[in-house]
Amino acid sequence: MRLLPLVFLLALPGALPAQHTYTPADIQEGNRLFRANCVLCHGPEGDQVPGIDLGHGRFRQTYSENALVKIIQNGIPGTGMPPNNLQDFQAEIVVAYLRSIATSGREVTGNGDAKRGKAIFEGKGNCLSCHRVYGLGSRVGPDLSDIAALRRSVELERSLLEPNEEVLAQNRYYRAVTKQGESVSGRLLNVDTFSVQILDSKERLRSLQRADLREAGFVNDSPMPSYRGKLSTQELADVVAYLLSLKGI
Ligand code: HEC
Ligand code: HEC
Repeated sequence: MRLLPLVFLLALPGALPAQHTYTPADIQEGNRLFRANCVLCHGPEGDQVPGIDLGHGRFRQTYSENALVKIIQNGIPGTGMPPNNLQDFQAEIVVAYLRSIATSGREVTGNGDAKRGKAIFEGKGNCLSCHRVYGLGSRVGPDLSDIAALRRSVELERSLLEPNEEVLAQNRYYRAVTKQGESVSGRLLNVDTFSVQILDSKERLRSLQRADLREAGFVNDSPMPSYRGKLSTQELADVVAYLLSLKGI
């Protein structure tokens, strides 16, 4: 059983005492649960319900962590906030995730310009060589057409600066090495008893017989390069502004 951490005030992000430690994997799972259960109403930035800004720890009242866990589990009767079917620990890591984003500042400040960001995305940044947006570009990396509905600006910025920090499970690359020593990596499309299908880095569909493989498995590192130092602070802000404009068709 997990001990409940000391009560703290989530409403005061500047004054949060560091206590209960969650692993990065816990926070990532909290993020996943938030996206699966909360984003629909609260939005990816957590600010779509008027007067409530979950991403910045701004609530209508001051709640202890315990109280937040109870609100998440039980909802608020008589309002639009429904009960959520989450275990104690799951609700705790959603709160931990919200706390982590409330305290993580953005490195790239300044107002981005989405139009300039689009030009960088398609030009200098070479993002289309791996990503697809509205049917244009490559399938090597995830389709970003609705990335704004899924990710917050801080997370987008982190993807550009520290791509290895958080790779969503469904975006991990798969690597297979054949007995002849050929290494094939890319997005895993399918695995069955006899074969694996990988979309390789040149967007070719490779079907490999499992009996021919020496090793195979997911790789944790992102194949995406870091853009730290490659794009200026202003250019990064522009690209983030462009990504935030991608809300699906
Ligand atoms: C169906 C839409 C919906 C879903 C799904 C939903 N919420 Fe809410 N939530 C609301 C609404 C609407 C309110 C405001 C209720 C009120 O009027 O007091 C609210 C209130 C809250 C509050 C109280 C804030 C305050 O200032 O009192 C918290 C905390 C909260 N939601 C967190 C979450 C979390 C975390 C999740 C996901 C596990 C979630 N909500 C899922 C609609 C939703
Ligand atoms: C060499 C290929 C490659 C290039 C070039 C590349 N990316 Fe990526 N990117 C990936 C892959 C693969 C992933 C999935 C793994 C991960 O999350 O890091 C990814 C992930 C992302 C994510 C996170 C998606 C999510 O759902 O979490 C964003 C945002 C992103 N890329 C934006 C960009 C932008 C903007 C550029 C150009 C400035 C760019 N990428 C250039 C391959 C690339």
